[in-house]
Formats: sequence, structure tokens, C-alpha cells
Amino acid sequence: MSAVARPLDESAANPRTPAIESRLPDVGTTIFTVMSALAQQHGAVNLGQGFPDTDGPDSVIEAAVAALRGGENQYAPLPGVPALREAVLAHQRDYYGLEPEDLLVTFGATEAIAAALLALCEAGDEVVVLEPYYDSYAACIAFAGAQRRTVTLRPPEFALDPDALRAAVTPRTRVLLLNSPHNPTGLVLSRGELGAVAEVCIEHDLICLSDEVYEHLVYEGVHIPPATLPGMAERTLTVSSLGKSFSFTGWKIGWCSGPAELVAAVRTIKQFLTFAGGTPLQHAAAVALRLPGTYLESLRDSLRAKRDQLCAGLAAAFWLPALGTP
Ligand SMILES: Cc1ncc(COP(=O)(O)O)c(C=O)c1O
Repeated sequence: MSAVARPLDESAANPRTPAIESRLPDVGTTIFTVMSALAQQHGAVNLGQGFPDTDGPDSVIEAAVAALRGGENQYAPLPGVPALREAVLAHQRDYYGLEPEDLLVTFGATEAIAAALLALCEAGDEVVVLEPYYDSYAACIAFAGAQRRTVTLRPPEFALDPDALRAAVTPRTRVLLLNSPHNPTGLVLSRGELGAVAEVCIEHDLICLSDEVYEHLVYEGVHIPPATLPGMAERTLTVSSLGKSFSFTGWKIGWCSGPAELVAAVRTIKQFLTFAGGTPLQHAAAVALRLPGTYLESLRDSLRAKRDQLCAGLAAAFWLPALGTP
């Protein structure tokens, strides 16, 4: 029997509430909620939660307003509105040369990951994840009744150790949940590291669930989607979203794409989680994805400059020669 759940907010415990069984005995309030509340309380700069201080482009906001005024206010088709589906497919083709068989629009990458884990894992299956990881991963693996096996990325390079990856895989492993560019370390998996990932996935017949929400925020090097490696397109479900690339994190427009069979499995679960919505924002997301590439370049340049300024400031404050000054 699983343990009794801890209430998310201990103060909300009610002695008359019946004890409930939970798949999440070790999971409380998400760290992002905790850190954002602390930052607000102390008037601190909030680096804990990944949202920008400024909104995305006006033209995209205007597109959302036009969709709201234009009667796009009812349920979306389950697979997503056609304009956004076409824009995502064009994006995958133009940036990476990928031609996924199918795709599904979701409520952010978070829903895509949750639905994928619920769809692809049987109870007792194992999911290998790079640690540290975005905290929804552990919760969703637990929702699916699966077991989490971790491969730790260690400082200072946080590189992926192929031997550790191989050691984490067992006959019960079903999914390799990858995240590159990686939150929170900033690791961008190299072609060599991805080659090792592909080898392991193919040898053990794993599904690669690839969270690429930071695909356009790469300050050095390039983002290589795992699906572009030989033998990987047919076993990779690629997940991304509008939030980080276009500074609309609150819109929660995401998608996953890949082999028809995998996308169909995710769609089956998704229809009973939330069905389909955010219709006007899906229309606006299509406009965002069709913006000229210079938009993404200038966002990346401006974030890189902020990163450099922050690193220089931290180095100066803590006298860390490795970071530059003093
Ligand atoms: C690695 C990673 N994946 C997914 C998400 C969430 O994406 P979305 O807002 O599209 O659900 C985040 C948000 O911080 C993240 O860091």
C-alpha cells in the first residue's frame, strides 16, 4: 500500500478529512511556487521560475486579440487548430529538417510530458531521467506508476556520462526522458553525447521523450534534436512549447510530434485530461512561429547579454576568478 499523502499546504489539513492514498508520498508543493513566494516576500530577484520580465511580441498579442474578437472562443479540435499544426510542422522542417508523422497541441510542454508518460508506461516500467530535472518529471512518472532511474549530471561541466546512462538502463526501462537544452544546468547535449543516447535507445528499444522547450535559448553551440539522429525519428516523441521561445509562458501552448503511433497514444490520454482549448492563443501561437528568425536571434542575444552581466556581477560579488572579474 502506498503512503498517506501529505497535504500540499500543511495548514490546510482538516482532522475530519478522510485519509487518502497517494502516488506522490514524496512530492509536496512545487519548488517554483516556493521560490516565487519567497522572492516576492523578500523583494528578491526571482531566478527560480522560468518566466521573463517582458511579454513577447505585440504582433502576437494582437493576433490573440483578433482571434478572441473573431469568434475563436470554443473548444479547439483535439489535435490542435490547423494553423498552429501547420506552423509547428513548418518550424520542425525549417529549423531541423524533421518531418514528423503526426503532432498534437497540448496545454504547455508540461501536459505533453504528463500525457506521454501516462500513455507510454505500464505500472512498474522504468523511466531514465537526467538529474537534476524539471520537477514535473518525478510527479508524472509517479502518476504513471512507473519507477524513476536517474543519471546525475555532475559539476563543473554537467556532461552526460555515457557509462552512467548505460548503467541506469535495465530490462524494465521503457522511456528515456531527455531534456536538452537542460534545465537547470544549461547543458546542451553535444552530437557525441546524443550519439551515445541514440545507441542506448536503439540497443534497448527505448522510447526517447525529448523535452526541448529551451530549443531557441542556446547561447553557445547549437541545439540538436535527438530525432535528427539516425534511427531516432521512429522512436522519439519531441516536446516543445511557445512559452520560453516567445516569452508567453502564461499561455501554456505546447505540442509534441513524432511517430503516428506514439502521438496517437498521447492523444488518447490527453483527450481525457483536458480535451482541447486555449483556442485563440493557439491561433496567436501560429503567428509567433511564423515570425522571421531574426526575432528568435534577438531574444537569444538579449538573454545572452543578461546572462553575461549576471555572471560578471556574481563573480565580482563572490570573488570567483573562474567567472571572470575581478
Ligand atoms: C525543462 C522544462 N520543461 C518544461 C517546462 C514547462 O513548459 P510549459 O510551460 O510549456 O508547460 C519547463 C518550465 O520551466 C521546463 O523548465
